[in-house]
Amino acid sequence: ALPAPERLSAWLDGGERPPAATAAGGPLPTDPYAGRHEHYATAARWQDADPEAVIRALDEAGLQGLGGAAFPTARKWAFTRAAQGAPRTVICNADESEPGTFKDRLILEAAPHLVIEGMVMGARVIGAGHGIIYLRHEYQRARESIAAALADARGRGLLGEGFDIELFVSPGGYILGEETALLEALEDRRGEPRNKPPFPTNVGLHGGPTLINNVETLAAVTTILAHGPEWWRAQGRGGYSGLKYVSVSGDVVTPGVHCLPWGTPVREAIERCGGVMEGRGVLAFSPGGASTPFLPGSLLDTPLAFETLREAGSGLGTGALVVVAEGRDLADVLLAQARFFRNESCGKCVPCRVGSRKGVALAEAAAAGEVAPGVAEALRTLHGTLARTSICGLGQVALLPVVDALERFADEPSVQRLRGEVPWATSP
Ligand code: NAI
Ligand code: SF4
Repeated sequence: ALPAPERLSAWLDGGERPPAATAAGGPLPTDPYAGRHEHYATAARWQDADPEAVIRALDEAGLQGLGGAAFPTARKWAFTRAAQGAPRTVICNADESEPGTFKDRLILEAAPHLVIEGMVMGARVIGAGHGIIYLRHEYQRARESIAAALADARGRGLLGEGFDIELFVSPGGYILGEETALLEALEDRRGEPRNKPPFPTNVGLHGGPTLINNVETLAAVTTILAHGPEWWRAQGRGGYSGLKYVSVSGDVVTPGVHCLPWGTPVREAIERCGGVMEGRGVLAFSPGGASTPFLPGSLLDTPLAFETLREAGSGLGTGALVVVAEGRDLADVLLAQARFFRNESCGKCVPCRVGSRKGVALAEAAAAGEVAPGVAEALRTLHGTLARTSICGLGQVALLPVVDALERFADEPSVQRLRGEVPWATSP
């Protein structure tokens, strides 16, 4: 169960120590976003700061985009600041929809002021007059908490004259969270991704420079500016910088969101959730949501960091740790992911529209026991085409977890079924 948002808010504000989160007990080693965040004190303290100093602080902290793609935040802010043109807009991408990802929901429900403050700082740096929080349509509680926080910020004079923030509820659909589809939706057109470049930093909403950051990134900006980049760097473990909200789900005893130091081994994140259900071993885990490949349980000591998980053959993505216990049918999980991407393909480009359907059909036929030698090769070729020719990330990764697992989990009986090597009747 998710921790109650009021409780998380108290931790974020530093008013209460986080409770023991593991079955074995013991406090979390790091107080999430430690220290008392007096609402909007950071924006006040940095009121007259040189925008370049703000960018420098983010650079020194080493902050990378926490929506999944890890683009350096300081560079994005610097590019948008340097871009010419109008209108100039700051957008918080709160259309969190990656399967397994629910960290932003908690931050928005519990501490929307951190996000608003980050947007105010972004607006000052890029010279924006308008801000938009683009919210996932199912996030009703977040809608209420954001509306209340916006009213509070206006009451304090932080928003209103010069810069204000509008709450925009997404019309709905996974692809509408892709940053350029989001821009199309805001411009009242069908929500389909645009070709990049140009990037929104230069040509964004209504053609003007647009700073688009994820919820957690903006909350981290406020935290870094409140405590300083050295403090942020010191929160990591094993040479990694900062804190990361990780949503843990799948076969764990207590799924939930944990704020962990970067560099925390995956194993510890699972232990914080009470371990694996029924005391089983870990067959596989996906560290970053549906677009990152599954890794075997033998890699549980990998530190949570972009670099380490990339080197391991997957990625940290959004920090959505999905755990699959031994005894579970991994092929079922992989098929469910592939069907998700097929269903959510917006259909704008042919490779993704046709290829995602074809890929699922091939894998389903193999999994159903219609043994087709060569299905693994066909899926690999199809994935290669999608990865090279799809215009957005969805098509580029739609078949990746399946294709990757065909090799990495080649000894797993359920995956052998997907490879078309084992007829259904003889598979366990
Ligand atoms: P991307 O790598 O194309 O871009 C990342 C960010 O950096 C974007 O804001 C982009 O505009 C900016 N950027 C990249 N190169 C730039 C340049 N040269 N100049 C200026 N700006 C530049 O990745 P994309 O497609 O935006 O995001 C993909 C990721 O999103 C995936 O890795 C996945 O993990 C994540 N994702 C997250 C979801 C969620 O619910 N949080 C949902 C779906 C995907
Ligand atoms: Fe749409 Fe898929 Fe093309 Fe992305 S890759 S624009 S989701 S059809």
